[in-house]
Amino acid sequence: MPTEQHRPDLRVAVIGTGVRAQIALAIPRLRPGAAVTAVVDPSPTGLSRGREMFGDVAGFSSHTDLVAAGGIDAAVVTSPDDTHVDIALDLLEAGIAVYLEKPMAITLEGADAVLAAAARTGTPLYVGHNLRHADVVRQMRAIIERGEIGEVKTVWVRHFVGNGGDYYFKDWHADRRRTGSLLLQKASHDIDVIHYLASGHTRRVVGMGDLMVYGGITDRGGHQDELMPEWFSLDHWPPTTQTGLNPVVDVEDVSMVLMTLDNGVLASYEQCHFTPDYWRNYTVIGTHGRLENIGDTGGGEIRVWSRRHGWQEAGDAAYPIAGVEDGHEDADIATMAEFLDHVVDGAPTVVSPLAARAAVAAGALAAHSLRNGSTPQDVPPVPDDVQAHFARLDTSKEPSRAD
Ligand SMILES: NC(=O)c1ccc[n+]([C@@H]2O[C@H](COP(=O)([O-])OP(=O)(O)OC[C@H]3O[C@@H](n4cnc5c(N)ncnc54)[C@H](O)[C@@H]3O)[C@@H](O)[C@H]2O)c1
Repeated sequence: MPTEQHRPDLRVAVIGTGVRAQIALAIPRLRPGAAVTAVVDPSPTGLSRGREMFGDVAGFSSHTDLVAAGGIDAAVVTSPDDTHVDIALDLLEAGIAVYLEKPMAITLEGADAVLAAAARTGTPLYVGHNLRHADVVRQMRAIIERGEIGEVKTVWVRHFVGNGGDYYFKDWHADRRRTGSLLLQKASHDIDVIHYLASGHTRRVVGMGDLMVYGGITDRGGHQDELMPEWFSLDHWPPTTQTGLNPVVDVEDVSMVLMTLDNGVLASYEQCHFTPDYWRNYTVIGTHGRLENIGDTGGGEIRVWSRRHGWQEAGDAAYPIAGVEDGHEDADIATMAEFLDHVVDGAPTVVSPLAARAAVAAGALAAHSLRNGSTPQDVPPVPDDVQAHFARLDTSKEPSRAD
């Protein structure tokens, strides 16, 4: 534990020391003077894992104990989705700056409570929509900003979640009470990116979906006290042969969503958790062309079609995607850097809490729609005072500063 003489300038706690806690490892490198000084996890295994990751730091079994102990300036919240709201509210009230993992909340009411608390207390709030910092998204946004496809009119996203069985159906992710829906847990990234590329937020949403494969697997039991990499294997194929699913499996494994944005853009999002391949494919169509990504990490490319012709695979222009070839470590580091710059310097962010709320609204209401006869759902507006509080620091509807 750091002594008083070596007290870090920014004392950070990590709340929830599972797989995602690793995003906090970069903190001292990104901000000299900042350090992880405490970890919180209700499980003894989680606490010892936290100390293995971050060294001899203080450990607490609940975030309320952490808050009561004091001495923390900022917290990285990487606990399960259903815990986000209560933890964020207590941290914000205590004046502890919050990095909250996506989804911000599993209900729209929860997201609005977090926004209201941040606006009222003035405590910095940041939500980890790291996909905005992935090169594929930065470049798609830059192509749009350069006017290469004209004015964006429609965005279609297909999400092939090839590792879905291992990632989302063997622990808490499979339980609606913990995640709401995989349209929040998983789709919140892509719904956010749709909003980012289209410079609008969903106003009306319709969903359809079903639990088509994993619901029929009776080999249950889950993986208590284990983390996903411990049970992950590409050999778990075909998906019908998966074993050790979470005792409760009631989230959909196929979902389809249609959205009307507040600027008139029409969007669609499809998600399937039992494809053999794992990637996301965006098509953005504007008044002067369309773009599409082939691959979504380093080694892939974004193609732009801007002349009339029949089928033509190569596009009229192609832009290689830079960055890591697997996963999103580079985007994670850019996201953590943005959080630290925001907390320490008050810098504006490309990822805004208002955008995080918009992703929760679209995902939560899409899930409600698909579970209630695909009825259209309208997104209620954010109160004016909350909107005004966050709008001053939101660069998401302005030209990108990423390139
Ligand atoms: N942005 C991204 O790319 C990305 C990627 C992975 C996960 N996530 C998000 O990170 C969060 C954590 O996901 P994960 O995969 O690390 O889950 P995980 O199951 O691997 O780890 C969760 C940890 O939180 C602990 N925990 C449970 N309840 C807690 C509480 N009340 N307070 C503190 N800790 C608690 C658990 O014991 C566990 O150690 C989720 O919200 C998820 O959506 C984001």
